[in-house]
Amino acid sequence: MSLSRWYAHSEYMEFSKLRSGATFNLATSGVMNCSLSDLTFRLEELDINGPTIYGYAPLLEAIAGLKGVKPECVVHAAGTSMANHLAMAALFAPGEEVLIEEPTYGLLLDAAQYLGAKVRRFQRRFEDGYALDPAEVAANLTAETRVVVITNMHNPSSALAGEESLRTIGELARGVGARVLVDEVYLECLHHPPATSSFHLGDNFVVTSSLTKAYGLSGLRCGWILAEPTLAERMWRLNDLFSATPVHIAELLSVMAIEQIEKLARRGDALIEANRMAMVEALSGHPAIECFNPGVGTTIFPRLRQGDVAAFCEFLRDEYETSVVPGSYFERPRHFRVGLTADVEMTREGLGRLARALSVWQEKTRD
Ligand SMILES: Cc1ncc(COP(=O)(O)O)c(C=O)c1O
Repeated sequence: MSLSRWYAHSEYMEFSKLRSGATFNLATSGVMNCSLSDLTFRLEELDINGPTIYGYAPLLEAIAGLKGVKPECVVHAAGTSMANHLAMAALFAPGEEVLIEEPTYGLLLDAAQYLGAKVRRFQRRFEDGYALDPAEVAANLTAETRVVVITNMHNPSSALAGEESLRTIGELARGVGARVLVDEVYLECLHHPPATSSFHLGDNFVVTSSLTKAYGLSGLRCGWILAEPTLAERMWRLNDLFSATPVHIAELLSVMAIEQIEKLARRGDALIEANRMAMVEALSGHPAIECFNPGVGTTIFPRLRQGDVAAFCEFLRDEYETSVVPGSYFERPRHFRVGLTADVEMTREGLGRLARALSVWQEKTRD
């Protein structure tokens, strides 16, 4: 076993699980958790064991219906997290080249490195609103690239990729025999109009997602991979080495959740919309930051004009009981990520505190 594999861990997850909490927590990125009482469910239909073999057919059909694909293209996995791990494990061998956007969600990079990828990067730039630029991909793609990895919407910025850019990247990747892995967990938040998955842009697209971020259903761990059927079959077999068989009661609850997905979508939309309005009120034009507002998604990723972001985050927590995610977890240490997904009252108060802390910080750090 290599040393890097032995010590593999995610600094971001450690932060998220152990150090991101605060009275006013703006460090989240997924719609506030549902409780069981938010779901209409039939207790008498729940059970511990069931007919799951390579997936539970009613759940594969429900996910397929939600995404407009055939059930044989769906691989169920424990959240987008396991979906990403499983997809990557099936898409490249150790030592093969993987081209990953920068900045990105840290776990994608961590998982690729853990699986032995030779990682290359292409840039998404703050100055361009973190747009997905096919020319950047083209400049960094090589004949050896096996997979191009993208998040859409982008984590940390929430920038939405255009269909044309994605299609062009698909063609570029096809030119060298590569696939495009798109983590669409935040795309689930787009309902007006509903987002079309990039899976439909070509058979070299592989998509991962889950019910976590848009619906507050992280606890069901209902994630999936969309892939062409032969590849999907290979992933199912590979999954026998990982989690083998899912938790059946969660499969049943996931089917019931998808049956009432519109109600859950409305809950998430209302929360994000109210929080985005509060964010615009509190932060737009604030002199202490430069901020790209994507107008969609669950987070924003401002750049602090003055001073050290890690020190500012500490000051914000100590003096204003408010947390955000330091940009160092996203390879952008001058930025910080603000979540728009928590309770509306708490978020409004947290954003007000953030705005006040930024003003005081600006004075403190003036040259
Ligand atoms: C881009 C991205 N993918 C995947 C995940 C994990 O999602 P899940 O809870 O479905 O495993 C996250 C969580 O923050 C994320 O930001």
